[in-house]
Amino acid sequence: MVRLLRERWAGPLVVSRGRIHDATRLRALLAEDADGRVGLATFRIDDAGAELVTLDAVIQRRGIATALLRAVTEAATAARSRRLWLITTNDNVDALRFYQRQGLRLVAVHRGAVDEARRLKPQIPIVGEHEIEVHDELELERWL
Ligand SMILES: CC(C)(COP(=O)(O)OP(=O)(O)OC[C@H]1O[C@@H](n2cnc3c(N)ncnc32)[C@H](O)[C@@H]1OP(=O)(O)O)[C@@H](O)C(=O)NCCC(=O)NCCS
Repeated sequence: MVRLLRERWAGPLVVSRGRIHDATRLRALLAEDADGRVGLATFRIDDAGAELVTLDAVIQRRGIATALLRAVTEAATAARSRRLWLITTNDNVDALRFYQRQGLRLVAVHRGAVDEARRLKPQIPIVGEHEIEVHDELELERWL
């Protein structure tokens, strides 16, 4: 977990909606196949619902994230959460596509929220996926 989070999230600290989460201390689900560990989801549950904090597939387009999202949804439902939600960043158009294909809806654009988050975690890059500047948080949700 620590290695994957270091490689893909510049460390275990993840900022969403102005809060810092240590992803190594959250609930986690690992995806495994015959080759070993191939994916990780971390999430947390409170009165506002279940927040998917990180989701990573080591190999793309094999159904790993779909399986993890389904498992997180099951855990959230078992905990009687009524809402699954998450934050991604404005550059992450691949994730935006993935989540919408999975039935989540875009509910808010928090303009400048990543610029604020960068004060808490300076390692957040200024230029992200597809060389898009990273400034805003996108909030998606699905009612359970
Ligand atoms: C976004 C992300 C999580 C998607 O993970 P993924 O494991 O590639 O997703 P899946 O394989 O479950 O689904 C992606 C697509 O592959 C397709 N797919 C799944 N198995 C497949 C297979 N064996 N052959 C061909 N296509 C397949 C799915 O149907 C889906 O297609 P669709 O988008 O047209 O519906 C992944 O790209 C990732 O780890 N990104 C970096 C981290 C990140 O951005 N996380 C999200 C922000 S929190």
